[in-house]
This record gives sequence, structure tokens and C-alpha cells, in this order.
Amino acid sequence: MPRAATPTSNRSPYYLTTPIYYVNDRPHIGHCYTTLVGDVASRFARLIGGPERPVFFMTGTDEHAEKVAAAAAKQGMSVQAWADRNAGEFRAAFDALDIRYDDFMRTSQARHKAVAARLIQRLLDQGDIALGDYEGWWDPSQEEYVTESTAKEHDYKSPVTKKPLERRTEQNYFFRLSGAPSRDPSRSYAELLTEHIERTPGFILPEQRKNEVLGRLRQGLNDVPVSRRVKAGDPAAEEGWGILMPGDAEHRVYVWIEALMNYLTGVDEATPGQAGRGVFWREDARVTHLLAKDILWFHAVVWPAMLIALDIPLPTTVYAHAYFVSEGMKMSKSLGNFIEIDRLRAYAEKYSADAVRWYLATQGPLGATDADFAHGRFVEVYNADLANGLGNCASRVGNMIDKYFGGAVPDPRGVHAWTAQTPQAMNAYDWPALCREAVEKAESAHAAMDLHGALRAGAELISRVDAFIGETRPFSIAKLADGETVSSGAERMPAKDALAAILYQCAEAVRVATLILSPALPAKTHGLWRAWNCDPTEPDAENPERPRRFRAPLAELAEFGGAYGLRPGAALGKPEAMFMRADPAEAAPGSPGA
Ligand code: MSP
Repeated sequence: MPRAATPTSNRSPYYLTTPIYYVNDRPHIGHCYTTLVGDVASRFARLIGGPERPVFFMTGTDEHAEKVAAAAAKQGMSVQAWADRNAGEFRAAFDALDIRYDDFMRTSQARHKAVAARLIQRLLDQGDIALGDYEGWWDPSQEEYVTESTAKEHDYKSPVTKKPLERRTEQNYFFRLSGAPSRDPSRSYAELLTEHIERTPGFILPEQRKNEVLGRLRQGLNDVPVSRRVKAGDPAAEEGWGILMPGDAEHRVYVWIEALMNYLTGVDEATPGQAGRGVFWREDARVTHLLAKDILWFHAVVWPAMLIALDIPLPTTVYAHAYFVSEGMKMSKSLGNFIEIDRLRAYAEKYSADAVRWYLATQGPLGATDADFAHGRFVEVYNADLANGLGNCASRVGNMIDKYFGGAVPDPRGVHAWTAQTPQAMNAYDWPALCREAVEKAESAHAAMDLHGALRAGAELISRVDAFIGETRPFSIAKLADGETVSSGAERMPAKDALAAILYQCAEAVRVATLILSPALPAKTHGLWRAWNCDPTEPDAENPERPRRFRAPLAELAEFGGAYGLRPGAALGKPEAMFMRADPAEAAPGSPGA
């Protein structure tokens, strides 16, 4: 039986990976998207779990593919120099979006070569990898064999890029995926995996993808090539590019096989400098591989099978999101129709990195449906959620506190709930309960990788504050004469006290909302906390490049009027303008008309 890592509490070690990206070309929106989703999810994990929770987020680059060597040769560069340059491009792209990772894996690093060689040696020794002949349809643009039926169905062209498939015959080492693990041959991989997928909720997400994988498993499994023979004159081979097949210098390890192993390299304790990382791949850790649907099969079937053979626990979740598309077509390096990082950078410069993060995190293809990146939609979402939403609400509340209380947090005298009377209705606002509900909603959405849902919990709290202001009309209460009273629903109180209670409730609810929004909007929320004297974070003492550390778990930080709440009398300053309203008529940044 495969051993399954059981998803546990908000405090269990949390390990999140993105695919490692090919360095044959520069990064585009698709790569940035997956890594941004990983950044937001891991920031949520740190926020929800608090400072004691071990969280590790890794991204990186996959460098041994044939197409990487081909791209380098075309540029007249050594593969190493080309890979160095493009790995740098990926890091710069992630920096532009304020993405923070704990480690950046490069498969050309010695640590990865050592771990991959060690794991492959074990599989060879056990007999799970063996030499055999193989003939099949090779898709050079995707670096993989496709089955006879897929090849036929697509008229012997790549199902992804439509480029012609190549007939290849090789003597190769194979991973015996068609059979059973050597350490317990009583049940086949197909049986073991089908059972695991069916019985383990959340192993493959979204749900729709799970059914696709189960369907394909029913068609049977083929052995997977583990090596490729080095061809005479292969410049990459002469440079020593790739990982040597242990004991057979004529073969290099096939890129897909060693690439998957990078996830173990990153947390390998025996690797110098990585002491303590073993906690991230244990039975009680929560391990999530994040990727897109193009490479789900490798992650949901081939990789778990290798782990079963190695007797290593399986990841908790393999999450395969859909694609960002361009004019309805899949974006690919081979088709050259992708939205480049330069365009995202231009958006970040004009609207802020947080604004781009927000758009990608809330409008991206996290579920099973593809999404388009459209300028009109960007402006619409930016104005609705950020300029007119969070930004406007925070500045309204701040301005009223400035005007009526000299910029000091008003004292609510313990009044944390209010019943607003409108001509139509009586609406009760129990703020401590509303804040707890928002936190719980964010926590359970995050556990299901529903990041949009988690962020929505914060955005809804902002909308509540807007509605509350509309219904209680603090600006009208401010005009009442001394001696007049106002009802909170529970008691009548002098107008000035009522105003203080209402504005405290608004500001404190905004503070809680910004905690929940912070994984997507780290810079803007931090700016607000500093201005409002309620910063719940401190720099990571070991590494200032890491996201700032929260002083307590979200549930404690978000307690309304609690230990981390706004303190009456403290200065509530003005943050720098959060989000200026965008003019929909302006040209898209990065476009020729801009
Ligand atoms: N090197 C392999 C992955 C090895 S992981 C052990 C690879 N690299 S890739 O450069 O092609 O990156 C593929 C991944 O990039 C996708 O799974 C996805 O995470 C991201 N995306 C690439 N294009 C994308 C879109 N158009 N939309 C969204 N994400 C996309 O495959």
C-alpha cells in the first residue's frame, strides 16, 4: 500500500512546490501565475499557522531538457551560460511580483545531481528500473512519448503544439510502471494508484482532474523511459550536461524522471546546508505539488509510482490548475503567443505589484476552467476590488477618525456590536462574530486551495464595513449637538460615544480584513498596518528576504479588539495612497499605444 501523508492541522509542516520551469526561453505569465499562486498559498499557510509553523515554498528551473541544449546551441552559448541567464530571468520575474520563496531549485546544481543519482541507483538495485527496447512516438516540443492512440488521434502531431511527432527507437532504461513495485509485487501500480486516488480525498484537485486521471488509469500503464542514449556529437553531452545514468556512461537520465525528484532534493536532510528540512516530507507534513493540467499525469501517476517503489510517503495533494490562454489558444513557447513578463512588469509599475498579484490570484485559472488575461477586465477588477473597495474604505475610515478624533484610535468603551436602523430594515453587526467567521472561511478555503475564496472572505468584510457606514451614517452623527443620543440597538449613548464606537468598529474590521487580504497584497497591507500602528509582523531574523513573520496565528491576530487589535488612543496615521482609481480609457501598459 502506498503510505499517504495525512493532511493535518494548521500547525503541521507545510511544503509547497511549483513545477521547475524549462530554461529554454524566458518566463511568461503562465510560469509567473503558478509561482504566484504558490507564493499566496504559502503566505496564507504562514499567516494561518503563525510563527511556530514550519512552511517551505520552493520553485526553480529544469535545465537538462534537450530543448534547453538546442536553444543554447542556437544562441551559440554554452548550455550552462544559457541556463544561468534564463534562471536569472525567472528569478527577476518572480521578484517583480514580490514573490518570496524559501529555495530556488536548479537541476544543474550538484545537490540535485547527487539526490537524483542516489534515488535512481536504489530503483536500479531493486529492479524497478531495467534496460529494455522501446519504440514509440516522441513529442520533441514536450519532451515526452505519447501513446499510439494519442498519436493517431492527433494525426501524428503534438497534441499540444501541433508540431510533427518523431518515431524513435531506443534501447533505454525503463521504470516498470506497467507492472508492480518490486518490494511488494502482489498488486500493480495501476491498482495501487487507482485505489489511492479513489480513497484519498484531496489527493488530486480540482475534482474534475481526478476523474480524468482515473479514466486514463483504466486504459492501462506503459513503462516509462528513464534514460536517453547520448548521441555522438551531442554538444550538451560533451559539456557533461545532464545527470549520468548510474553505471552506464552512454546514458543520461531522462529529464522528466530526474526533474520530479527535485521535490525531494529540496528537503533532503543529508544535503549540506539543508539540516532540519526533513520535517517537510514526513507522514504528518502537508505536501502540495502545484502545477498546470499539462503535466498532471507525471505528477499524479509517474511520480507517486516512483515514490511507492522507493517506499517514501506520497504527497498530500497534486493540484493542477487550468491555463491562462491568449485569444482562446494555449500559450506556449513553441507557438510564441504568450503574455511576456515585460507586460506584467509594465502593469506592476503602473498599478503596483500588489494589483497584478490581486488580478492573477482572483481572476486566474485556479480551477478547471481556462482564463484570459484581458486589459479591460484588469481595470474593472482593479477599480472594483482595490480602488473603490479596500483602498476607498480604508481611507474613508481613516479620514473620519482624523477629522473627528484628531487621528487617534477612538475608544469604543467595549461596544463591539451595533444594530443599524435603515428605513427598510434593522441590520445587526456583531463584529467579533463576523471577524471569526471571515477567518474560518479563509482557513477552510485555503485548506482546499481555493485561494480566491480565502481572499473573498477578506473582501466581503470590507464590503460589510462599507454597508455599515452607509447604514449608521457616522458623518451625520458627527453633526449632532452635544447632549443628543444615538441607539446602538442595545443601549442609547451620547452622540460622541456612538461615533467613537462606530468608527472603532469600522477600523478594527478593516484591520482584520487586511490580515486576510495580505497574502495577495503584502506591500499595501503592510503599509496600512505601519500607518495604523498595528503591524503584526516582524522581519525574519535569519533572512530579511523571507516574508515577514506574523507574531501569532491568524485566529489570534484577528480577534476583534484583542491583544493585536487597534489600541484606543494610539495614532492612526494616513497610509500612502493605496490604490489610485484607474481610467478605463487609458491604453494598456506595455502596449504600443501606452
Ligand atoms: N520542466 C517541466 C516541469 C517539471 S516539474 C518536475 C515543465 N516546464 S514548463 O516550463 O513547460 O512549465 C510548465 C508549467 O508552467 C505548467 O505546469 C504551469 O505551471 C506553468 N504554465 C505554463 N503555461 C501556462 C499557462 N498558459 N497558463 C498557466 N500556467 C502555465 O513542464
